[in-house]
Amino acid sequence: MLGMSKSIFRRLLFSFLITVLLGLGISGALMSMFAKNYIYEAKQEELLRKAKKVNAAISQRNKVDDKLLAQLAFLDESFDNRIWLFNQQGKIVATSMKSDVFIGKSVAASIAGKVLKGQNAMTELQIEGLEDPMLSVAIPWGAGDHVYGGIVLHAPIEGIEKTFAQMRETILWATLFGVLLSTAMVSYLSWSISRPLQKIERTAREIGRGNFAERVTVDMTDEIGELAGTINMLSDRLEKMEQERRHVEQVRNDFLANVSHELRTPLTAMQGFLEALQDGLVEDEDARQRYYTVLYTETMQASRLVDDLMDLMKLENNEITLARFPVDLAEIISKVAFTFQPEAEEKGIRIETEIASGLPRLYADKDRITQILNNLVKNAVKFTDEGTITLAASTDNEWVKLSVTDTGSGIGPDDLDRIWERFFKVDRGRSKKNKGTGLGLAIVKELVELHEGTITVNSEPGMGSSFTILLPAIDKYRLERPS
Ligand SMILES: Nc1ncnc2c1ncn2[C@@H]1O[C@H](COP(=O)(O)OP(=O)(O)O)[C@@H](O)[C@H]1O
Ligand SMILES: [Mg+2]
Repeated sequence: MLGMSKSIFRRLLFSFLITVLLGLGISGALMSMFAKNYIYEAKQEELLRKAKKVNAAISQRNKVDDKLLAQLAFLDESFDNRIWLFNQQGKIVATSMKSDVFIGKSVAASIAGKVLKGQNAMTELQIEGLEDPMLSVAIPWGAGDHVYGGIVLHAPIEGIEKTFAQMRETILWATLFGVLLSTAMVSYLSWSISRPLQKIERTAREIGRGNFAERVTVDMTDEIGELAGTINMLSDRLEKMEQERRHVEQVRNDFLANVSHELRTPLTAMQGFLEALQDGLVEDEDARQRYYTVLYTETMQASRLVDDLMDLMKLENNEITLARFPVDLAEIISKVAFTFQPEAEEKGIRIETEIASGLPRLYADKDRITQILNNLVKNAVKFTDEGTITLAASTDNEWVKLSVTDTGSGIGPDDLDRIWERFFKVDRGRSKKNKGTGLGLAIVKELVELHEGTITVNSEPGMGSSFTILLPAIDKYRLERPS
């Protein structure tokens, strides 16, 4: 991670420095070019003006004599410029200086030629030993067509080096300042980019380790902020998926534990009885018959569990299709009541039916409706020790209401929501007496919902329970289903 911030820093610094150095270099070069031009032009103009004044003063003289020399000396003094005069052959004939080392020497042929044709000429000379270069201006000597030769004025171009030195220094300081400033800015920039990135990276790593609760806290609205948001969204999703996965796993484990437990009970019993029979411990025929009966019951119990499980699985996986036909509910109720009559009588409880007149038929699967009722009535008989079980059916012509009410043990408010869960049984401790699997109501609920109906329960411990089912009446389907 440090590597990343370093490389951001390096790249930023590199581009900043390039920009600063290039910018300052180009502007420095341009500035010095313009300054040089300006200084030269100004100096040239000044020299030209002076040269013309010199010519105006001596244009009537074409002979070198003391007077001319005195005049030159005077002009030199007042203009502070060295003056040379050269003749038509380009030979220097007079100077304004005391020493006459230059007398007799020739000026450059190009200059002499130009001047003798009546034009002005300019040269720049770097004289050894002098810091500043000398600028020379040559103009024709004379008036009109009378050109006797040329006048040359010299002047050191003062201050150029000084100006340049100053400029160089300024640019150097500016460069230094620019470098410092860009280093500071780059440090800040790379810090402000890499710090949140580091945070994001740390979080992403934690998420990668399976720590899905981790979130990035970066309050930025730029691309980095967006990245942080995306990372957070990702971990939200992962956290949810992980929770779901855990839940599914939990459900699966619970399911396996429940199935094993429910199978264990009948198997253990069967094993015990079979061992007793095998060892010849049961000698009397009556007892043996009783043992066979118990064995048969236990087999039935195990087989019922497997049937219920298969049913529930298919229901939950939407693998069951209803064979729906117009169904007479009253008929089913009577049949179920009749089926449970012996069992109820044995326990000393009554089964009553209350069927409203004009009950519309249902558009339903007859076997499944019977299965629903069977389960509810079986529970009612199982959990009722005295009193009545009432099977009632009524209608408001849109819905058919079917209820199974008992005067049995009832269900406590805490358990009331849970009875629909598979394998749930109130008070597992008493489950020796309750041979159920805890799957009955789960199947009932699925089946009712498959019929587009609802099931609710009302119960008070010690007073009894009432299960109410609402199923759509057939007319509704006649209207909705064009035949
Ligand atoms: N009519 C009822 N009266 C009292 N408790 C009931 C009644 N019906 C269901 N229960 C409670 O709900 C639990 C779940 O019922 P069910 O799913 O049919 O499983 P099972 O009948 O196999 O125990 C039962 O174990 C019982 O505790
Ligand atoms: Mg049951």
